[in-house]
Amino acid sequence: MLANVKNILIEAQKNGYAVGAFNTPDMEVTQAIVRAAVKLKSPVVVQFTEKTLDYAGDSVIVEVIKAIIDKESGSLPIGLHLDHGRSLDTIVRAIELGIESVMIDAAGQPLHDNMAITKRVVEYAHPKGVSVQAEIGVVPSMGEYDQNNTDWDKLMTDPLEAKWLVEETGVDTLAIAIGNAHGFFRERSEPDWKRLDMIRKLLPNTPLVLHGASDWMDHKVEEAVKRGIACFNIDTDLRIAFNTVLCKFTKDKCDIIDPRKVLAEARDAVQKVVEEKIELFRNPKQKENGNSK
Ligand code: G3H
Ligand code: 13P
Ligand code: ZN
Repeated sequence: MLANVKNILIEAQKNGYAVGAFNTPDMEVTQAIVRAAVKLKSPVVVQFTEKTLDYAGDSVIVEVIKAIIDKESGSLPIGLHLDHGRSLDTIVRAIELGIESVMIDAAGQPLHDNMAITKRVVEYAHPKGVSVQAEIGVVPSMGEYDQNNTDWDKLMTDPLEAKWLVEETGVDTLAIAIGNAHGFFRERSEPDWKRLDMIRKLLPNTPLVLHGASDWMDHKVEEAVKRGIACFNIDTDLRIAFNTVLCKFTKDKCDIIDPRKVLAEARDAVQKVVEEKIELFRNPKQKENGNSK
């Protein structure tokens, strides 16, 4: 059942667990995410970026995602979210497609510009019943920053600025930077836990989101959930699972030319990864004790 992303995250925060927000580019990955959630009876967020709208066609992909959620999830809450909207135009595009949760990512811009655009997005979105995630501090990606010369102190979220941004703009949820990074970009040797504690203390009622979480393992996830992260964003690990299957078919099984056979196996591989992540996020402590079921 399509559900409000903000409420899913608030519920997680209140009860001391986190949810996964998983990126999808297509039908197969969406089915993998929803099927994993249904199997484990766990709420999740399905999210997509502007690139996916460009790739698949705006209403085509949104209707496909909604149809899968509608058909497969029953009464389980599933959120639908625009990830990394970089401009007001993209936000408007998503909202006109019926999306009720959006991210405005202006974190690479100077603080005042980030504040200004985030405020405009909130003013546009809230009257339409749409909730907004902002980002403050930079979660670097390959190609945008040099991973061999990362000045983490410059990139990470300043807790007082985070508080200021939330109070000035009225955003609903906040993506923060504590040494996490997107994709294969090398992360800080250890997340800045004290910084996270300070952000949580200054913003006790704002669900916090951690991007670039594919490579976050048991102890880091446990620590992050304990200290108040309500949502982990995952894309790269799903891409790896999907592509590993495609590589297998193109290398060893070139005689299989029915794309459905290839894609079904890729979908199953992605589902398995989503299941592992859900287990990890909803109860990292049990997971570490090897006791997750
Ligand atoms: O955090 C970003 C996601 O991995 C989405 O990437 O813009 O290629 O869809 P994308
Ligand atoms: P990863 O690709 O590193 O998992 O990050 C995903 C993400 O942050 C999507 O917003
Ligand atoms: Zn991200």
